[in-house]
Amino acid sequence: MTEVSDSYTLDNLDELESNVLSDLKSISNESEAESFRIKYLGKKGVFRQLLKSLGSIDPQKRKEVGAKANRLRSLVETEFSKAHWKKESAEVVDKSFDPSLPGFPFHKGSLHPLMQIRDQIRDIFISMGFTVSYGPEVESDFYNFEALNTPKHHPARDMQDTFYIDQNHLLRTHTSPVQIRVMENQKPPIRSIMPGRVYRNEEISARSYCLFHQVEGLYVDKDVSFADLKGTLLAFSKRFFDEETKIKIRPSFFPFTEPSVEIDVECFLCKGQGCSICKQSGWLEVLGAGMVHPNVFKSVGIDPEKYTGFAFGMGIERIALLKFGIDDIRLFYENDTRFLSQF
Ligand code: PHE
Repeated sequence: MTEVSDSYTLDNLDELESNVLSDLKSISNESEAESFRIKYLGKKGVFRQLLKSLGSIDPQKRKEVGAKANRLRSLVETEFSKAHWKKESAEVVDKSFDPSLPGFPFHKGSLHPLMQIRDQIRDIFISMGFTVSYGPEVESDFYNFEALNTPKHHPARDMQDTFYIDQNHLLRTHTSPVQIRVMENQKPPIRSIMPGRVYRNEEISARSYCLFHQVEGLYVDKDVSFADLKGTLLAFSKRFFDEETKIKIRPSFFPFTEPSVEIDVECFLCKGQGCSICKQSGWLEVLGAGMVHPNVFKSVGIDPEKYTGFAFGMGIERIALLKFGIDDIRLFYENDTRFLSQF
């Protein structure tokens, strides 16, 4: 910066102008800016001194010279306030920030693959007019077995290895108890699906786990027939798997349905030709179903002479394993993000 000079007078305003403007240009940081401000614009700064001295000059010249000095001062004030120099604190930030470094990847979460399958199944049934219902995972023996036509010592209880909490309470072994809760609370016509988690005391392996998920379905009205069951599940399979999908119905047994069936879906991978997913059979077992047993209707106070219905239950894990081509069910529960982030 040019030396502070006492020699600026109203006679050498041009010299002052060129000095002040070059000083202004040379400011490069905050402390230089402050020195500039004190030197020129402060209480004892050059401009104050100059303007004070106006009183002592020839009144003839005063007007012209005063105007010139004032114009210069306001020019300097505006230029000074507009000037951008790097703030010292900003320089420090600059040193620690390297804009050329690659950014940190931001990991977005996604819905668990089992929940994706659950939602797809649910949405198809919703579009067919079904509602969605839920029930508790800790159930009483009554809902899980008794009301489903499975009294104590019934051999069918052995089909499901139950986790008992006490004599009367257990972790539900299937979503079928929700059928009972729905029928207790609603009058026919009833069309509902019931997704949820179920538990079975099975040995853990690549094929089975101590918990899994099911989607239960229930349709109760006058004149519901086995053909309605077939038609509904065929329509579902075509939407969920493939428009060309065929289904195959085999007789089976469940205490709460009569007749009971198991439904196989044509393998969507090989289209029935036989492959490793369907173990060369061309078919995939996906669900259990049947017509609601009259004893089940009686346990909830629905007259089996007036109403009929069908019910079905499918395992979400099994469908997810098939659909995603996964060979170990345990992967679903390990919360390994390397696995989960693929879906
Ligand atoms: N609850 C049966 C199971 O878990 C499936 C099923 C549901 C069968 C409804 C028939 C009717 O295996």
